[in-house]
Amino acid sequence: MMISSTTKVFGLFGDPVIQSLSPLMQNTAFRMLQLDSIYLPFLVPRESLSGAVNSIRALNLGGVNLTIPHKERVIPYLDQVDEQAGLIGAVNTIVNRDGALCGYNTDASGFLVSLKSAGFNPKGKRAVIMGAGGAARAVAAALAINGASPIHICSRSEERGKGLAQELGRSGFTVAAGGYGRHFFELLPKADLLVNATPVGSYPNQKEKPAAGGEHLHPGLLVCDLVYNPPQTRLLAEAAAAGCSVLNGVGMLVHQGALAFQLWTGRKAPVDAMQRVVSDKIDNNNERRR
Ligand SMILES: NC(=O)c1ccc[n+]([C@@H]2O[C@H](COP(=O)([O-])OP(=O)(O)OC[C@H]3O[C@@H](n4cnc5c(N)ncnc54)[C@H](OP(=O)(O)O)[C@@H]3O)[C@@H](O)[C@H]2O)c1
Repeated sequence: MMISSTTKVFGLFGDPVIQSLSPLMQNTAFRMLQLDSIYLPFLVPRESLSGAVNSIRALNLGGVNLTIPHKERVIPYLDQVDEQAGLIGAVNTIVNRDGALCGYNTDASGFLVSLKSAGFNPKGKRAVIMGAGGAARAVAAALAINGASPIHICSRSEERGKGLAQELGRSGFTVAAGGYGRHFFELLPKADLLVNATPVGSYPNQKEKPAAGGEHLHPGLLVCDLVYNPPQTRLLAEAAAAGCSVLNGVGMLVHQGALAFQLWTGRKAPVDAMQRVVSDKIDNNNERRR
């Protein structure tokens, strides 16, 4: 693609951004649809967020994605926040509409699309989420909005889990929280869905043992790992061997990107092509490391 004076610029604000697959995914989508647009990674440390957000207006960027550590802290700097993102308390996509910055959360919707594409409808389902960070927040809210009940957040830092449950409670979501003690292992046999929203099992610590192993999992349970590198984590391998259905994080990654693309361009995203480049890149990186 030729960059010209009319090229629309989109980007990613985060720290770090070097590992991100979003530039590859979004630039592939722009190229497929022959759009005069480009997507760039911007390394934005925590203390530079307000200046970076102002630069969206000053430089007339089309929009940006946000990643760690900005998704929650960005909200006060925006002109409008979509209702769902406001309830979740986190924004991962900003659209610049003639200088008005509007925030959305496509992580939550991307997670749901990925779940539904695996044939899982959350309504009335019992869910257990491992982790209490940004991803757990989006997943818990997405499940609550779509009728999953009960929802339990289990986390290493119990205080963080309880804080998150309380915050989600203030938005009207009923979410319980606890640690990885006996209660966690009592919840698992009754659960329909287990989500890993921690980095446990991700590259380069693929061998790290998750809180739940194959011996705690039962056929009929859907085990979803938000980790996408490697695509087959230790948790998913143990879950598949225990007869569970499994879903990795590639679908959520691709669908959150596709939904952001649609918000920015008004065009339907080429999801298959986005999924293919992301999967190929992960496979190639892993092949090179072997
Ligand atoms: N597929 C996707 O599209 C997608 C989207 C978002 C995130 N993710 C993935 O989801 C994971 C979590 O992301 P995040 O944004 O939520 O990160 P985060 O905000 O940093 O939260 C991480 C959570 O994991 C817990 N944790 C970290 N290391 C742990 C360990 N060794 N044992 C047990 N718990 C541990 C943390 O516990 P403490 O509070 O005790 O530190 C915290 O609750 C990452 O792997 C990320 O790549 C995937």
